[in-house]
Amino acid sequence: MCGIVGYIGEEQAAPILLEGLSRLEYRGYDSAGVAVYGGGAMQVRKAKGRLSVLDGLLDHGKALEGVVGVGHTRWATHGAPSDVNSHPQVSRSGKIAVVHNGIIENYVQLRSFLQEQGVSFVSETDTEVVAQLVDYFYEDGRVDILEAVGRCLRRIEGAYALGILCADASDRLIAVRKDSPLILGLGEGCTFLASDVTAILRHTREVIYLDDGETAVLTREGARCYDHLMRPVEKAVSHVDWETDAAEKGGYEHFMFKEIMEQPEALRRAILPRLRGGEVVLEGFGLSDAYLRSLKKLYIVACGSSYHVGMVGKYNLERLLRIPVEAALASEFRYMDPILDEGTLVVVISQSGETLDTMAALREAKRLGARVLSIVNVVGSSIARESDEVLYTWAGPEIAVATTKAYSTQLAVLDLLGLYIARRRGSLDAGTCREVLEEMARLPEKLEQVLSRRDDIQYLASQHFSHSSVFYMGRNVDYALGLEGSLKLKEISYIHSEAYAAGELKHGTISLIEPGTLVVALGTYPPLTGKTVSNIQEVRSRGGQVLAVTTESHREDFSHAAGAVITVPDTHPMLLPSLTVAPLQLFAYYVALMRGCDVDKPRNLAKSVTVE
Ligand code: M6R
Repeated sequence: MCGIVGYIGEEQAAPILLEGLSRLEYRGYDSAGVAVYGGGAMQVRKAKGRLSVLDGLLDHGKALEGVVGVGHTRWATHGAPSDVNSHPQVSRSGKIAVVHNGIIENYVQLRSFLQEQGVSFVSETDTEVVAQLVDYFYEDGRVDILEAVGRCLRRIEGAYALGILCADASDRLIAVRKDSPLILGLGEGCTFLASDVTAILRHTREVIYLDDGETAVLTREGARCYDHLMRPVEKAVSHVDWETDAAEKGGYEHFMFKEIMEQPEALRRAILPRLRGGEVVLEGFGLSDAYLRSLKKLYIVACGSSYHVGMVGKYNLERLLRIPVEAALASEFRYMDPILDEGTLVVVISQSGETLDTMAALREAKRLGARVLSIVNVVGSSIARESDEVLYTWAGPEIAVATTKAYSTQLAVLDLLGLYIARRRGSLDAGTCREVLEEMARLPEKLEQVLSRRDDIQYLASQHFSHSSVFYMGRNVDYALGLEGSLKLKEISYIHSEAYAAGELKHGTISLIEPGTLVVALGTYPPLTGKTVSNIQEVRSRGGQVLAVTTESHREDFSHAAGAVITVPDTHPMLLPSLTVAPLQLFAYYVALMRGCDVDKPRNLAKSVTVE
């Protein structure tokens, strides 16, 4: 998500902070800021846009005196990119400056609480709540700053890495980590904090990895660490020998692989803040219950992988809502003269929020009188701004052209939306909703299990990387997944690939099967696994090779029929695609790697397609 860096030492802090932030810009780049204590005052400088804007303002940091400070490069989650929403966020007394990575889930309640105490807010961010709350407990120095931070931590919920500077205690910095990475760097007469080791590698390679719930007090001599109960803990110092390029990728060889591995964390961010008491809670959602009850039809409109999410959504949401749900390619939708009116909700899905075809479809939908809700990753993007309503995926920046974590979070958010609307329309009872949501909360952990078995998939890739053509087949949501698996493979490995609804095999495609042809058969959707097994047999009896993906409870059925079987944990049927997509991503990744392809930047493609 965002990038954090902090420094305390003997040198001028701002140039070090800016240089560190430049190493983190790949994590977020819609605005940046620094807070430095110097000349007897807290000095805060922030600027919307790329880091270079701030760098220019501060003459590469030379313009800001002081030997202690924190810096931040932002990827907006709460509040559009703007100077005021940039970090550091500063408390009303001007004494507490906070940089934050993550999401404070209960910020709305805390904000109300503080407002009742007379605190006024200047930004739309959840981070400002932390600055104000620490200040509230600090009570103008009546409580030690560490104690004030500890009290704040007992009140906030969510995921966070925090860097805190207090004007009254400028001989130290405070660092806190919970479910969001944060490391400390130990230099000669200086100490650092950073969300990524990349930010500090030029200064030190001796680091402490904070664990969840831990707090650290940094001075120029080193760091003291505390557990979640503020009891002192001894931490091991690790030596980092990565080069900077590897460090930006968190030690992974490619951004795509890093982003595949980040999916459990991204799912946690997308799902958990939206679950409360067995119901979906969409903070600040503007579509009224009466409007949702009046809906006659849903269109899901998007391009590429985002369209494939829409395909899964068609199956899942139609089942939940019992009204027609259509998935349409944005590039077709705008020219197909769609029948829309105020009874139609158009859901557009876009990671970048800038895809031109999707943007044009959105405008066409509005012109025809429909309301538009978008599911977007990039806060403040064009699609987000022009939609009537936005749900963000909170996946964090996605760098690899082949989308992975954005796909997974789009799917989760679309499912949440379906459940939310279904409850308003009365087409889903409270008990079933609770059951699905309980399963949804377990998805990140189950996905971790799938990813931990990546060596098996790497082995399968080594068996199959030289095919010239690969087919994918499945039924229902597995068909939609097949489309995604096939796109992933072809876009990064350049192997010809197509996906079919398995039932269509005998209507033509089967003529392509010859001895050795590889078919990836997806058979996770419980009511139809038997039918997919029959299709596998049809392929095998013509000499085709089959690699099957199914759930653990169906492993037996498939291992008799297919040459190789990959399993994913069982879960509620509507959530299976969130798990099944991972082996498909990994398979495509390893195959492309073995073929020597440029995985992160496949030929002829761009991350954001802003032309028609
Ligand atoms: O940014 P968007 O979600 O609107 O992008 C849509 C497609 O261009 C995108 O999903 C594309 O298909 C991916 N590269 C697939 O991995």
